[in-house]
Amino acid sequence: MSVFRDDFLWGGAVAANQLEGAWNLDGKGDSVPDHCTNGSHTNPKEITIDFHDDKLYPSHEAIDFYHHYEEDIKLFSEMGFKVFRTSINWTRIYPTGEEETPNEAGLKFYEDLFSCCKKYNIEPLVTLSHYELPYALVRKYNGWAGRELIELFEKYCHTVFERYKDLVKYWLTFNEINAGTMPFGAVLSTGTIQGYEGPVTQVPDDPQSRYQALHHQFVASARVVKYAHENYPNFKMGNMICFITSYPMTCNPADVLLNQKQMRVMNWYCSDVMVRGEYPAYAQSIWDEKNVKLDIQPGDLETIKAGTVDFYTFSYYMSNAISADPNAAKTEGNIGAGNKNPYLESSDWGWQIDPQGLRYTLNEIYDRYQIPLMVVENGLGAYDEIEADGSINDDYRIDYLRKHIQEMALAVADGVNLLGYTPWGCIDLVSASTGEMAKRYGFIFVEKYDDGTGSLARRKKKSFEWYKKVIESNGESL
Ligand code: BG6
Repeated sequence: MSVFRDDFLWGGAVAANQLEGAWNLDGKGDSVPDHCTNGSHTNPKEITIDFHDDKLYPSHEAIDFYHHYEEDIKLFSEMGFKVFRTSINWTRIYPTGEEETPNEAGLKFYEDLFSCCKKYNIEPLVTLSHYELPYALVRKYNGWAGRELIELFEKYCHTVFERYKDLVKYWLTFNEINAGTMPFGAVLSTGTIQGYEGPVTQVPDDPQSRYQALHHQFVASARVVKYAHENYPNFKMGNMICFITSYPMTCNPADVLLNQKQMRVMNWYCSDVMVRGEYPAYAQSIWDEKNVKLDIQPGDLETIKAGTVDFYTFSYYMSNAISADPNAAKTEGNIGAGNKNPYLESSDWGWQIDPQGLRYTLNEIYDRYQIPLMVVENGLGAYDEIEADGSINDDYRIDYLRKHIQEMALAVADGVNLLGYTPWGCIDLVSASTGEMAKRYGFIFVEKYDDGTGSLARRKKKSFEWYKKVIESNGESL
């Protein structure tokens, strides 16, 4: 018998800015990712203030989900999805974030999309902010460093809550909110990049604005969670963390202590605030070390206390080792790097593959918070090839997912309350870190390539049939 609950939410996850395209259609405004060019593992993408004809901006067309969503949702339903995690492009609803009234065409698009999910008995799980801040708010306020964004975000959330109250029950406030604790988060999440253009890896780091921005995001999240609880009692409100588990490289206490610090900054800082409703005791030491002086307004801490989340969600791709030895070999990661773990292999993008780490992580999180968990991103970014007969034999992806699901099952057997699993990029889409199409995660291949060409046709990969059986058997047939 399956260890997963009978109503386990199997599905897949995407983000609006990475697949919709239609970046300026039907009244949509430009978001931060619309200003990002394509890059690769070795050549970082750039952000430009204006648009240049000689540069390629992959989000502008992406995989054109905007015009293909019916076909795509049908394919998800064929795999048996119970849940589909997507996000709303804030700029489709409020193009600059500051309009008085919402853009009806944008509202209509998501109404049709969520209704389509419902038609196939797929529950939408909606991220309110997934790496797509209106660029106008970067220009005017330096992104979330501006306190004004709290109210603008509330206005946007109230609009979509009311419009989709009968279609959407599960909401996440900020995708990978802890990105703001890392320098790369300035581009992805906090939008504290006013006036900057150039490679996204070279944004001058400003911890003061990143941490202030994060504080504003905590307040904004708590306010909308509280509002949802008061006005829409059927809603379930979650947080979302990019969880990069790290291990001390050795049992040298210096490594252990350094890793404890890394785990706090990277993984615990944000969820301690969002789940427990207060800044943890160690927060002050993080601010002091980075010379951050937070502006906390009267009422903010009470707001944070009153708007704690109902369930905890996270992405899990990899783990790191942490060493106090400055000469220890380094490795890469999605929002933060670490040291090389000699026991693990890495993806072609240098992300260390660690299925057992998922079991460990689920247990650590559940021990700390005791609220239901959901793994809302996991997967292998890989180069896929179409064979002469048209098939795509992504056994490496099946292998990765199988091992992670096995460890998830063990964590459930350990006692973790796990609600669901939505592997990342269930259909190929633009990579968030590099802007590539070549880094593919999907069960469905999309004929779209890094030079902007491609018919946009969809093809099932081998993993498509495999995942269908996984869902059918509630995780038994792997
Ligand atoms: C997560 C993000 O960090 O990882 C997604 O929430 C992102 O937006 C995913 O796409 C995978 O990262 P990448 O860089 O391979 O696209």
